[in-house]
Amino acid sequence: MSTNSVQEKLTQLLDDAISAIDAADNVSTVEALRVNYLGKKGIVTGQLKQLGSLPADERPQIGRWVNDAKRTLQKRLSARKQELESAARGQQLNREVLDVTLPGRGNGVGGLHPITRTLHRLQSLFVQMGFETAEGPEIEDDYHNFGALNIPESHPSRAMMDTFYFDEHTLLRTHTSPVQIRYMEQHKPPLRIIASGRVFRCDSDLTHTPMFHQTEGLMVDEGVSFADLKGVLVHFLGQFFEDKLHVRFRPSFFPFTEPSAEVDISCVMCTGQGCRVCKQTGWLEVLGCGMVHPEVFRHVGIDSEKYTGFAFGLGIERLAMLRYRINDIRLFYENDLRFLRQFN
Ligand code: FA5
Repeated sequence: MSTNSVQEKLTQLLDDAISAIDAADNVSTVEALRVNYLGKKGIVTGQLKQLGSLPADERPQIGRWVNDAKRTLQKRLSARKQELESAARGQQLNREVLDVTLPGRGNGVGGLHPITRTLHRLQSLFVQMGFETAEGPEIEDDYHNFGALNIPESHPSRAMMDTFYFDEHTLLRTHTSPVQIRYMEQHKPPLRIIASGRVFRCDSDLTHTPMFHQTEGLMVDEGVSFADLKGVLVHFLGQFFEDKLHVRFRPSFFPFTEPSAEVDISCVMCTGQGCRVCKQTGWLEVLGCGMVHPEVFRHVGIDSEKYTGFAFGLGIERLAMLRYRINDIRLFYENDLRFLRQFN
C-alpha cells in the first residue's frame, strides 16, 4: 500500500471515529468506542502493530500519523465523556431542585401527658397547703415496702397487693407508702410532705393497670388529728375537681394506719346513678388514708406518745379519669395520639 493510501485510510478512520464519538449519547457508548479503537485489540492499535511489516523508510512517517490519530481520539473520547457526565449531573441537579418557597413542614408542639398534668395540678394544690415534695426509689426492699409499714411476712394483708418480686427481698414498690418510712428515717417532726411516683401491681382491668401513679401524703406533728386529715382531703378534692362533689370516708383497714379509711367520691360519669365505671355503686374510690400507726413510728424512731400524724395514698390515674371523664384507665398507656392530642 502506498503512503498516500495509508494516510487516506487513516483520515477516513479518524473521521468515522470522531462522528461516532460525537454521536454517543451516554458514557458507556463512549467507553465501548474507546475499546473499539484504542483497546488492546482496537483498530488503531492494530494499525500500530502493522508498522513492522512496512518498508523501513515509510515506517517513521506512518507511525507518526497513527500516533497522532491515537492522541486525537484519546482527547476526543475524554472530552465527550466529560461532556456527557456533566450533562447527567446537570439533569440530576434539576430533578432534585429545592423549592425554598414551599411552606415548611412545621414542628408539632408536644403536650404534657394527662397524668403529668394531673400530677402537676395535685402538687401545686398541696404545695399551697404547705406540703413539701419528697421522692423514693421504684425498686424497693421488702422492709420499706412492707415490714416497716407494719406488714410482717406472712401477714394476710400482703396478699392485698399483688407484688412483682426480683428476689426474696427486692421488689417493685406496690405503693408510695415506703417513701413515708424513708423520709421519717431521715427527718424529725414536724413533717408535711407529699411523694409522687410510679407503683406496680399485677393487676389489669377497666380501672386497674399494672403500673400506675400514686401520691403519698404525710403530716406528723404534735396534736395532728383525724379532723386535720379530713379537712386537708376535703379541701383538696373540692379544689381539684372545682365542683361540689360528694365525698365519703368509709372505714377501712391498712396495717400502717389506725383508724383507717378509704375515700370515695360520687361517680362523675353517671353522677352517682350507677354505671360500668363505678360498677353500679355510684361511688369511685380515690384514696386510702388514716392516722399513722404507732408501730410505724416505732420503726422510724418517732415518739408516738408525743407525736401523731396522718397519711394518705391517692391514685393519680383515678383522679385523671374523673377529671377528664375517661372511662377506661388503659387509654392512658396506649400512646394513641388521637387520645393524647385532646389534652394539648
Ligand atoms: C394503698 O396503696 C395505700 N398505700 C394507701 C394509703 C397510704 C393508705 C397511706 C393509708 C395511708 P390502695 O391499695 O387502696 O392503698 O391504693 C390507693 C389508691 O391507688 C386506690 O384508691 C386507687 O385509686 C389506686 N389504685 C390501686 N390499685 C390501682 C391499680 N392497679 N391501677 C390504678 N390505680 C390503682
